[in-house]
Amino acid sequence: MSGDMTADTPRPASRIQNGGRPFPNLGASVRDFLAGLVCDAQLLLARTVSRRGRAETSVATPLNWREILRPEDAGVVRRMVEETAMFTKDEADVAVELVNERLTKGPSSGYDFLFAERAGQSVGYACFGPIPGAPGRWDLYWIAVRPQAQRGGVGRDLLRRAEALMGARGAERIYIDTSTSKKYTPTRAFYRAMGYCKVADLPDFFHDGDGKAIFMKRYARYSRRGGTLGNG
Ligand SMILES: CC(C)(COP(=O)(O)OP(=O)(O)OC[C@H]1O[C@@H](n2cnc3c(N)ncnc32)[C@H](O)[C@@H]1OP(=O)(O)O)[C@@H](O)C(=O)NCCC(=O)NCCS
Repeated sequence: MSGDMTADTPRPASRIQNGGRPFPNLGASVRDFLAGLVCDAQLLLARTVSRRGRAETSVATPLNWREILRPEDAGVVRRMVEETAMFTKDEADVAVELVNERLTKGPSSGYDFLFAERAGQSVGYACFGPIPGAPGRWDLYWIAVRPQAQRGGVGRDLLRRAEALMGARGAERIYIDTSTSKKYTPTRAFYRAMGYCKVADLPDFFHDGDGKAIFMKRYARYSRRGGTLGNG
């Protein structure tokens, strides 16, 4: 979800991610196991740091969750995406295009949405869908929280709920593309805090000096029963 959403969004990410294997000479299951251990250690560290740094949970108005899109969501999404000041105009156009695709084609668009609302106003949203041709692999295409609501746990709730929806719809692995640029350092910290591991790094992908990082999280087998997600 950075530089090249236009070119990248509909393309299966799974082919790209092979390039990022951390243990190229081992069998797939051993490699997965070791990668899982590394990822679990990173997640534990992220959680420890996160607990230390976290302010007391706010007592803000509770969030409501909405999956059904309305025609006005095209404008809502544009405003939210623009407000973050993280995306180019072209990227904002793509975000809106995904809304319109869903409004026109319904579930067959391949784009599912989840909105977080507080007091009737959208404060964040996520867009995700199955990767064509890669069974069990899903992509988080977009996530954004309005600046005034950031660092309050909305992104965490939003992603957890989006993951649960993806899991219930068959996701075994969830992929997220982002930028390696300095501007996206907080975004990458967020994904790590949410248990995602970087599985591929494509230097200079977007333009010189701005690469693409692909993050991944496995949908744990036990999570199908318990509703929580992890790397195992
Ligand atoms: C990334 C984003 C969705 C996170 O949403 P959020 O509501 O601010 O995140 P949360 O408050 O739920 O944070 C959850 C954890 O992520 C990590 N995190 C979030 N923002 C962070 C930041 N700016 N710096 C470091 N860590 C951060 C923390 O570990 C945090 O836990 P903590 O609050 O207990 O420390 C939001 O910042 C955003 O919309 N950013 C701009 C758009 C964007 O980059 N989208 C992704 C495009 S690829």
